[in-house]
Amino acid sequence: MPDSTSYPFRFQEQIIPGVADLGGDLNGEMVITRSTVYVYEAPVRVWHWVNALAVMVLVATGFLIGRPLFNVPGEASDHFLMGYIRFTHFTAAYVMAIGFLLRLYWGFVGNHHARRIFYLPLWSKKWWRGVIHEARWYAFLEEEPKKYIGHNPLAQISMVTMFTFFSVAMIVTGFALYSQGEGADSWQAKVFGWVFLLFPNSQDVHTLHRLGMWVIVTFIIIHVYAGLREDIMSRQTMISTMFSGERQFRDDREV
Ligand code: HEM
Repeated sequence: MPDSTSYPFRFQEQIIPGVADLGGDLNGEMVITRSTVYVYEAPVRVWHWVNALAVMVLVATGFLIGRPLFNVPGEASDHFLMGYIRFTHFTAAYVMAIGFLLRLYWGFVGNHHARRIFYLPLWSKKWWRGVIHEARWYAFLEEEPKKYIGHNPLAQISMVTMFTFFSVAMIVTGFALYSQGEGADSWQAKVFGWVFLLFPNSQDVHTLHRLGMWVIVTFIIIHVYAGLREDIMSRQTMISTMFSGERQFRDDREV
């Protein structure tokens, strides 16, 4: 028989005074209030899911560009298989790149949560303590996570690394490669041609672009695991928040 302090019975102490007046049954019932905060505005949520889709298409088509499918017999113009795959890659690439610019814009005009994937408060001791606490929580070394309205500090590190650093790296290397097809007069060459000053052998840019894909695939696995895990184990909602924008807390205790 679990004692009254063990999970999930520890919430018993939070029975709302006066709940019986509302018709609640206090005989062994757990009654907690759930506060809800609106965190992620619609543009942030739309961008998140559109970007997720675009990146999945980019990974699948990019993988095939680097390791093309078997030779297809007959005239290339009759099937154009790799052509369609490349076209799909470039279409998703434009969706991702334009989406990133719009998301950057929203970082300026949206609420303060919208800015948090673009910087790390490295100067804040409280933030560093949060990083350590969350790392210990993910490693099952803490009994309980803290409550966060936006991203927890560890999640913020992974968001900044992935959504900002690696997205930019993929866009820069991708458009540099694209400029080779478009020619030296193209806007892609004018804006991203400098990449070949750093890496004169364009095969190196291909390799970096491909390595970037594997980093992103690894991130997606960790991101989905952490989202599901925190949705189940943390003190607040995760996945529904990325649809509704609202974070609902599961207890009213202090952070
Ligand atoms: C998450 C984002 C992206 C992923 C995962 C991704 C993945 C890949 C991969 C794995 C390759 C094959 C590299 C190789 O082995 O040679 C590739 C090629 C390429 N990607 Fe991306 N890419 C992304 C974004 C972009 C963007 C934003 C552009 C911009 C236009 C782009 C343009 C290209 C081009 C031009 C190629 C070479 C195509 C060819 O040689 O036929 N990619 N991509």
